[in-house]
Amino acid sequence: MADWRTNLLAWYDANKRDLPWRNINDPYKIWLSEVILQQTRVNQGWEYYLRFIEKYPTVASLASAPEHDVLKLWQGLGYYSRARNIHAAAQSVVKNHKSKFPADYNSIRALKGVGDYTAGAISSIAFNLPYPAVDGNVMRVYSRLFGITTPVDSTEGRKKIYETAVELLPAKNPGTYNQAVMELGAMVCLPAKPDCLNCPVRDACYAFSHKKVTEFPVKQGKTKVRNRYLNYLVITNSDKILIRERKTKDIWKGLHDFPLVESEKPVQETKFVKDKKWEDAIHILKPVIKEISEEYVHVLSHQKLFARFYHIESAKKPTTIPTDCFWIKMKDLENYAVPKLIDLYIRKKFVK
Ligand code: ADE
Repeated sequence: MADWRTNLLAWYDANKRDLPWRNINDPYKIWLSEVILQQTRVNQGWEYYLRFIEKYPTVASLASAPEHDVLKLWQGLGYYSRARNIHAAAQSVVKNHKSKFPADYNSIRALKGVGDYTAGAISSIAFNLPYPAVDGNVMRVYSRLFGITTPVDSTEGRKKIYETAVELLPAKNPGTYNQAVMELGAMVCLPAKPDCLNCPVRDACYAFSHKKVTEFPVKQGKTKVRNRYLNYLVITNSDKILIRERKTKDIWKGLHDFPLVESEKPVQETKFVKDKKWEDAIHILKPVIKEISEEYVHVLSHQKLFARFYHIESAKKPTTIPTDCFWIKMKDLENYAVPKLIDLYIRKKFVK
């Protein structure tokens, strides 16, 4: 293998970051680290990873945890279906594989939430199996290196890069090679400001030699983003507060927020109060508007959320509340897993 891959591996060996999930071959830990890293950058992921393996050192301990605790530990990473999936997958490892993490690609790929990337990463890193692990970093590296013009956000483009990755994968230490390509993407072949001067493979790079580095990876277009307007009702009654468990198949299932009035368009705060727009959701006896928050803007992959929180003191407890809502002591609020947006509000308002 006397080509650019030799340079890449030498570079990786000399420059790789000393990460807590490197130099281990426990598939459970590698799986956790890979799922966490799909959600966040290494610095933040590191802390979450350590917290997870401290609380759940084995796949069986994760499987037996209440889902609520797993979501709480995941809080802040966002995209909570990933947390629910690792929990369900851990339970299936216990049930179907006698608590031993499966050691073949197909069984790994069959676990809930495990796609081609994660299955390839675990198989190659933990078991030295010859599968590529193609994430966003790898797509960028290969698209520049080979000048691939098929958009990387198309099925055809992804297929092309996956096939390239299969061809390039060396028989010896595929896990190290996969990580070297990812590391190059994370440290050198950056999206906006690639450090080509320090790149170990620039002599072989199509984009570099054609002075087209910023033109790759080619993308066909952005996915459409939907705007949503969330008017949250933060209803308190002396030391109690009304919260809601999100049970529907929308975003944030299983997490907690507050009773909600969602609108198609932005609603003027004064109009919201004057028209008692909360009446659709809940009938409040003797409402006193305590505070109306600023607007919080929160961007998800396909949605942009505009949220405002109406703190309403209900002098009398409402007689009927929505079925997914319940009262808790205000001081217990921090024990409930909440989406990041709600957490930002709670911290600002209640944790002073
Ligand atoms: N990004 C995600 N997983 C990685 C790994 N194992 N090595 C380098 N970068 C990564």
